[in-house]
Amino acid sequence: MSLDKAESKPHEQLAAHLADGMEAVNALIRARMTSRHAPRIPEVTAHLVEAGGKRLRPMLTLAAADLCGYEGEHHLRLAATVEFIHTATLLHDDVVDESGQRRGRPTANLLWDNKSSVLVGDYLFSRAFQLMVETENLRVLDILANASATIAEGEVLQLTAAQDLATDEDIYLAVVRGKTAALFAAACQVGGVIAGAEEARVQALYDYGDALGVAFQIADDLLDYQGQAQSTGKNVGDDFRERKLTLPVIKAVAQADPEERAFWARTIEKGQQEAGDLDHAIALLHRHGALEATRADALAWASKAKHALRALPDHPLRLMLTELADYVVARVT
Ligand code: IPE
Ligand code: IPE
Ligand code: MG
Ligand code: MG
Repeated sequence: MSLDKAESKPHEQLAAHLADGMEAVNALIRARMTSRHAPRIPEVTAHLVEAGGKRLRPMLTLAAADLCGYEGEHHLRLAATVEFIHTATLLHDDVVDESGQRRGRPTANLLWDNKSSVLVGDYLFSRAFQLMVETENLRVLDILANASATIAEGEVLQLTAAQDLATDEDIYLAVVRGKTAALFAAACQVGGVIAGAEEARVQALYDYGDALGVAFQIADDLLDYQGQAQSTGKNVGDDFRERKLTLPVIKAVAQADPEERAFWARTIEKGQQEAGDLDHAIALLHRHGALEATRADALAWASKAKHALRALPDHPLRLMLTELADYVVARVT
């Protein structure tokens, strides 16, 4: 590992530690994202894949397998599977959210169209399933198939919950566990399963991924109100404009007086937004300490993730996973 610890971010340390494996995973991704029959497919996939992305989920799979002493090669296929599932959900998500920016680039739905994004997303899902079948391990197929269904469930639940001021923190958590944490958890878990790890360790990996995923999404939702487009690669205020009730707003709505409630009902429920509304929304979040309270929740989930790691063997990767949990919330502290 050549990177200076003090200067590199935890996901960069993980990337340095897992460099050989990730190089193989990236080669596999590039090899499987093409199509001989439909040129639109490599155009769209190359646009997204070449923009980078942090590759957090495939690194989790490799790290989990390594931690559990795996010496085969199937973890590379599983890592690529997980990144394909992630990329497919991003293509679909940007259509659903009508987003214009992803990974610092215009979204595929903007550059091409919704039809291409939906269909190429479907193609990537199918490629993901082909890859995981090559491992001939029924349990990992079960875990990843389940995670894919759970992600879709989370996105659909959000569809009905997001613009409803009655949505509370429990419903928000169910959405987040589905749309985000399910894949983090599965990415970690399959690394342990392919390594033949004992059940307590597989469970610990699941628990780590689940809590990390929740912390990550809460932080992402916070960044939507207080981040910088240059560093997140996404637009600030998207969730408000999309009328998406995320944790900071849920907390502010819970404390709203009648006038504030009317503001949220107009902007989020009815979608009648005017110039200056985003600034007013942010002022209300500050007035009720909603951003600070959301940050505290993200920190609590990160500490839950770190706690789960205690059941895993002492290993340099375990320390990196601990630091990763701190890092996903450090983005907002
Ligand atoms: C974005 O995930 C989708 C969310 C769950 C918020 P990432 O932030 O991991 O996306 P990339 O792959 O690094 O672009
Ligand atoms: C991310 O959800 C997509 C999935 C987890 C399926 P969001 O819509 O909340 O995240 P961004 O802001 O577009 O990355
Ligand atoms: Mg989105
Ligand atoms: Mg979304």
